[in-house]
Amino acid sequence: MMRTLFPLLAASLLTACSTSRPPGGIRGDREGEIAFGRELFAQHCNACHPGGEEGEGPSLLAELVLPGWFIKRTVRQGHGEMPAFTVEQIDDDGLEAIVAYVHDLRRRD
Ligand code: HEC
Repeated sequence: MMRTLFPLLAASLLTACSTSRPPGGIRGDREGEIAFGRELFAQHCNACHPGGEEGEGPSLLAELVLPGWFIKRTVRQGHGEMPAFTVEQIDDDGLEAIVAYVHDLRRRD
């Protein structure tokens, strides 16, 4: 029943943004969420945290796993040289996806 809505939803999302947000929403689709987070990270974060490693910004894959709330707060508020990102730039689902991606990177390290 919901399936019939997906093409429509996907089409409107594709025109709304360039990233491939999973059509069913990111909740409950961990692989989809990580893939979405990877795209957003490449777009917004990778320049300074290449592959999550140290660049212009510090490594995000340090000894300690950075808690999700800390990553989210840093992204929303900015931090020193790091700019803040608004909800218009990265929405809350997108930020969750970025956190999932960073935590997944850490796990594979
Ligand atoms: C213009 C470069 C730049 C971009 C783009 C950028 N960062 Fe940063 N980031 C930094 C710098 C520099 C710091 C260190 C700030 C400080 O300690 O004063 C930092 C710090 C952080 C920290 C805190 C790390 C710690 O151990 O204290 C997190 C988490 C983080 N960035 C995540 C992100 C995420 C996620 C994105 C993408 C949404 C992003 N950053 C985009 C430059 C950047």
